[in-house]
This record gives sequence, structure tokens and C-alpha cells, in this order.
Amino acid sequence: MTHWHPGSWRTYPLCQYPPYDDPMGVQRVTENLRGYPPLVAPGEVELLTEALAEAAAGRRFLLQGGDCAERFSDCTAASITARLQVLLQMSLVLTYATRKPVIRVGRMAGQYAKPRSADTETVNGQVLPAYRGDLVNDVGTDPVSRRPDPERMRWGYHHAAVTLNYIRALIEGGFADLHHPEKWDLGFIENSPHREAYRRIVDAITDAVTFMETIGGGGETLRRVSFYTSHEALLLPYEEALTRQDESGRWFNLGAHFLWVGYRTADPYGAHVHYLSGIANPVGIKVGPDTRPDFFRKLLEKLNPSRLSGRLTVISRYGAESVGEGLPALIETARADGQPVLWCCDPMHGNTRTTAAGRKTRMLSDIFRELEQTFEIHAACGSVLGGVHFELTGSAVTECLGGSSGITEQDLRTFYETACDPRLNAEQSLEMAFLIARLLRQDHAPN
Ligand code: PEP
Ligand code: CO
Repeated sequence: MTHWHPGSWRTYPLCQYPPYDDPMGVQRVTENLRGYPPLVAPGEVELLTEALAEAAAGRRFLLQGGDCAERFSDCTAASITARLQVLLQMSLVLTYATRKPVIRVGRMAGQYAKPRSADTETVNGQVLPAYRGDLVNDVGTDPVSRRPDPERMRWGYHHAAVTLNYIRALIEGGFADLHHPEKWDLGFIENSPHREAYRRIVDAITDAVTFMETIGGGGETLRRVSFYTSHEALLLPYEEALTRQDESGRWFNLGAHFLWVGYRTADPYGAHVHYLSGIANPVGIKVGPDTRPDFFRKLLEKLNPSRLSGRLTVISRYGAESVGEGLPALIETARADGQPVLWCCDPMHGNTRTTAAGRKTRMLSDIFRELEQTFEIHAACGSVLGGVHFELTGSAVTECLGGSSGITEQDLRTFYETACDPRLNAEQSLEMAFLIARLLRQDHAPN
């Protein structure tokens, strides 16, 4: 094996790489990026690793969520606030139900690069390069928009920085202050069947906070929450440019706290996994129906040879139909290898289907069924499901079907905005949190 350095991925097989017609431009932009300040600090990354180790042991719970493809145009106060709000609300419900601290990780401030199943798509008879995320090209349906432009990496860095700055400002400014959970309210709750349940939780928390204040406890922890950022480590020249060494000589990706390797690039012999093997951040691996246990073992070994707890989060995304068939063998593999992984369920990506009208969608009933089965499988295997991973947004989009507001195939036309996969809207997200809370409260201990 060659000695690892931030650019050593270049000697490994690389897939999902954009067809840049200007490789010098890639070099120029990444050289600039190398001189820019990091977006996060190693100390924050280490705190997240410690928290994830706790979740792997069942003492915390991970909530990871956000857009499938975050857009530069989503870098507005309203969009960032709404996404943060929905994640905070979900975490409030989960914390209350589980009595465990919830780790909040956004697919935010950098989730700009997308893997694609096909390199091209045909729009009105014209064959176009696939949209690969705002970090690479534009979603517009003409050849100029779809040209991969290296300058977008610079814009990506700036949009991530501005987004993260606003998230930090909101949190510093008391947005997540438990003295005022009503600030996390969203208009949609007024019409939601979950309104009463949410209000009861908010009232109970307000009572608990008052009590803590009375006896002199609480303090800073009631005013602040921690929030971490994550994205798929896909466009490696960008990731390389944000990889920095700390005083102890360890390499960190300081473009986000948490990075994951996607289902299409999780090859233990490929460039993406090689890149992730050398950084000290906590890392996620997407697994699903095509993940063979022997490859999975190699992935674990390559990414976590020292078997550190908190280092690896395995995000299963099988689909409700096949999770029962595939997941138990991977749980057994990790256990046999002594790998202390955090198991997380992404019930979105294995349940995507296309309607007769050609729209990608997902049904809430499938999403919930995969979650429920995943909890049961872990209980039967004696492992812990310590987290969930969702594609969601803070607005009232109509992209996923079902839920208490009963979104139908006809409704998909109303407010379908995603540049990639269909997301839960704010109300569907909160509903999911209540459903998970119910699952978490049931006794899933092995017999
Ligand atoms: C995603 O998380 O948006 C994604 C593409 O998922 P996966 O790699 O699991 O298909
Ligand atoms: Co997606």
C-alpha cells in the first residue's frame, strides 16, 4: 500500500468523476481552496466522534438529515432556518421519547455533489450530461448548464461557509434555547394531527426547565445545542483541498464534521474509500442489497483497522423488501471482526420508485416499514440501531407519498422541487420522529 496523503487517492480506481473539459481549472481552483480557512475545527470533529461512540453503545441516538442535493439557491435565511428547525423539532421528540441525548447531524453546508446511476439523461430528445450536484454543474436542461465547471468548487466552499456561519449564529443566538422551544414551532404544526402531541412535549420540557432553574441546575446546556455538518465525500479534488493537518500531525477533512462514502463508491479498493481511510473524521458507509459480506469486511478493515469506537457509522439502505435478507449477515460480519460500528438506518434510498407519470417518489409506509424491520433485525441480532438518516426539507414540498396529510400521486405536481431524490416535508419529518419515538420506547431488547 502506498503511503497515505490527501492526494494519494489519485492512484486508485475512481468512479463517478465529472467529465471536466478544463482539468487546469480544477487545479487552479483547488490550489486556491487549499489556502482558504477550514470550515470546522478538529476539536469539534473529535467531540462528534466521542458522541458517536456513545451512540454505538446505545447511550445516545443519531439523527442525520437534510437535502438529497443541497442547492446553492437554498443558501437563504428562510431555507436554512426551516431546515434547522425541523431537525431540532425531530430531535426534541426523540430526546423526550428515549431520554437519551440526540446527536444532530445535518446533510447541510456542503451536500452539493451527487453520484448518478447514468452519465447522461435525455430531455425532450436531447442527450445531456447528468446533473451531478451544484458543486459540479447546473440542473438546467441545456448543454451549457450541464457543463462541469471547476469554479463551482469555489462557490461550493463559499456557500457552505455562509450556511454554516448562519447555523452557528442561530444556535449562538439562542435559536435552540430550551427556555423557548416554541421558537422551533413551524406554521404547519397548526394543521397537523401531531400538534397536540408536540405541544405536550413542549409543555413537559418547559416544566422540566423551570424546575432545573429553580434548583440551580441546567445553565449553558439548556441554552445551546450542538449541531454538526455532513456530506458525501464524492468530489475528491474538493475534499482533498479541505484536508488539513492538526498540530499532532493527523489529517482531518475540515470541510465538514462527518463524511460518508456513497453506495455507488463504497469499493474497498477504490479511490473514495482510500481517501476516507486516511482522515481522522468519523466516517459513514452506505450499505445495501449489493454489499457482499466479504467486501464489507474489507471496507471495515480498510476504514477502521484500529477498531476505534465512533469512527464508523454503517448506514443501511436496503428497502423494505430486502432488508431482512441482507442486513443480518453484515451485522454478523462486524461482530465477528470486533468492529464497534454505529448502526444507522437510511429508509429512503432503498424505497425509491417512479410513478407512471415518471416522477421519482417514496411512500411513507415503505419508509416506516423499513425502519420497523431494521429495529426488529437489530433486536434479534443483539445489536443496537443507534441512528436514523433522512432526506428531508423544512418546507411543505409534495415529493413523498402518504403520511397523515395524505399526499397522493396527483399532489406530486403541486410542489415538487428536489434536484435529485424526493424528500420528506416538514410535517412528514415530524411524523416520522413520532413514529420512531414509538419504536424506540418499545422493548427491543433481545430475548
Ligand atoms: C444519498 O444519500 O443521497 C445517496 C445517493 O445515497 P446512496 O449512496 O445510499 O444511494
Ligand atoms: Co439521495
